[in-house]
Amino acid sequence: MPPVLQADRLSRRFGQIVVADELSFSVDHGQCLGIIGPNGAGKTSVFNMLAGVIRAQSGHILLNGADVTTKAQHERTRLGIGRTYQVPQPFGQLTAFENVLTAASFGGGRRGQDAADHAASILDRTGLSKRSDMPAGALPLLDRKRLELARALALSPRLLLLDEIAGGLTEAEVNVLVDLIAAIKPTLAIVWIEHVTHAVSAVADNVVAINFGKKIAEGTPAAVMADAAVQEVYMGAVMDVAAVG
Ligand SMILES: Nc1ncnc2c1ncn2[C@@H]1O[C@H](COP(=O)(O)OP(=O)(O)OP(=O)(O)O)[C@@H](O)[C@H]1O
Ligand SMILES: [Mg+2]
Repeated sequence: MPPVLQADRLSRRFGQIVVADELSFSVDHGQCLGIIGPNGAGKTSVFNMLAGVIRAQSGHILLNGADVTTKAQHERTRLGIGRTYQVPQPFGQLTAFENVLTAASFGGGRRGQDAADHAASILDRTGLSKRSDMPAGALPLLDRKRLELARALALSPRLLLLDEIAGGLTEAEVNVLVDLIAAIKPTLAIVWIEHVTHAVSAVADNVVAINFGKKIAEGTPAAVMADAAVQEVYMGAVMDVAAVG
């Protein structure tokens, strides 16, 4: 069986800025790949390539073995790529339920009662049932993160891309989110970009560290966090190595 996602030597630059330099990685069903790297390393740009927002200038993206490198964004959504955004993008005036229903309908292709039932089950799965009638814009931060996750899950993705979903949360809230993502993991493949390294390390099977679009380390979370090149890149930044040992 091919991996759910295989990125093969992806390269992309914006003028002089290199956001992907022959980047290769893969993730299987039931697995989570973490991507770490400093601000501006190219992490979100990699997601934009995987999701079809921007094109890779070279390299290939395979989804379940099928080449989607040149497919449009909406086709990739239909083929099973769901994502959360670094800056959450809910419809603030709509309730949590309406937000998830919208995703289930327009992205997920569901209709009527099926869409409503699916939205309700996703809200339940993400711990949002009690807030389902609350406008998204009024939700506290952890619930906005849950909603961002719920909207992506409403598409029934086989590949879930999480872009810094743990940012801005308290430690206790991070732990709630980690448990939630760990519970979802067996049902799909996850690629998780995260600055909160101990959070991604708690769930990821493998981690890739990038800098200037180039892979500088790859392996288990503990091995990557302990890697000399990774530590040098993060010099001055807080690395929670203890939490992953
Ligand atoms: N569409 C674009 N046009 C031009 N430059 C871009 C574009 N998208 C990203 N960049 C630049 O590419 C570099 C990498 O950006 P990207 O958002 O991928 O980084 P990141 O690793 O996600 O950073 P952060 O951790 O801050 O979210 C940055 O210098 C950014 O300004
Ligand atoms: Mg980013």
